[in-house]
Amino acid sequence: MVNLKGKNILSLADLSKEEVYFILQEMKILKKDPGKNKLLQDRIIGLIFEKPSTRTRVSFETSMFQLGGKAVYLRSDELQLKRGEPIKDTARVLSNYLDGLVIRTYKQETLELFSRYSSIPIINGLSDLGHPTQILSDLLTIWEVKDRLEDLKIAWIGDGNNVCNSWLLCCGLIGIDISAACPKGYEPDKKIIEKAKTFAGKTGAKIAVVNDPFKAVNNADILYTDVWVSMGQDGETEIKEKAFEDYQINKRLLIKAKEDASVMHCLPAHRGMEITEDVLEGKQSIVWKQAGNKLHGARGILASIIP
Ligand code: CP
Ligand code: NVA
Repeated sequence: MVNLKGKNILSLADLSKEEVYFILQEMKILKKDPGKNKLLQDRIIGLIFEKPSTRTRVSFETSMFQLGGKAVYLRSDELQLKRGEPIKDTARVLSNYLDGLVIRTYKQETLELFSRYSSIPIINGLSDLGHPTQILSDLLTIWEVKDRLEDLKIAWIGDGNNVCNSWLLCCGLIGIDISAACPKGYEPDKKIIEKAKTFAGKTGAKIAVVNDPFKAVNNADILYTDVWVSMGQDGETEIKEKAFEDYQINKRLLIKAKEDASVMHCLPAHRGMEITEDVLEGKQSIVWKQAGNKLHGARGILASIIP
């Protein structure tokens, strides 16, 4: 019997395949019955965000209200953290007031420090290394659209970034093939690739990192992309835009995937860069359903994790 109450989600590597399916089931159940189930009555979570957010912030806040609890949004520059109070002190103090924390931060180490000193569950709301809650809600979208999470191939097009890292781990863990096409020098974290391949040893997933987007999309069921320039990388905009010119999801690329392939993007999107307007708004795009499912995803995650 899976019991995730009190568990941290700092990375998808913290979860087993069984636990991922448990959270997905919870998402499905709560999506059917969004308002009535006050599973987290009187619980309060905090959201510490060092970077902007539209979807993750609002979906987690709204989810807590819908589940009967409350969420407190904490801008990191308004906390004493900004004036040098150590994370180990902040984490211990906030553990007295809150039942969980969603943290969006630059460094994975910040999440690890919080989890070491907190007695409440810590959820990664995006870090330099991963975006696990995004991928969990994306799995719900894929399940709804494809009616399965097996015998699928995902083609990642673009930067080997935090979202890509989480996809690699997820695919290894639950048994989805993935081919990530990234420019030379922008491939995903080596340790993450190794870990994904280790997981894949058990599930049989094929994990590939290539430089040719056309190779990646061959036989793909899902084409997935994300911004070329992630938050915190603004100084690299010019150089990255040049390096990523050929890593765009457009009609020419999409036609090389399976005929019924779907297009996903975690958003925010930059039309004319990583994706063209016609593909983003086209028949094969499931991006708007995907963005909507962030709410059901957050509800399922919170209901599973918050004690
Ligand atoms: N996809 C996603 O995490 O969006 P936000 O940055 O708006 O939260
Ligand atoms: N890779 C992007 C994802 C935004 C949701 C970033 O980190 O900015």
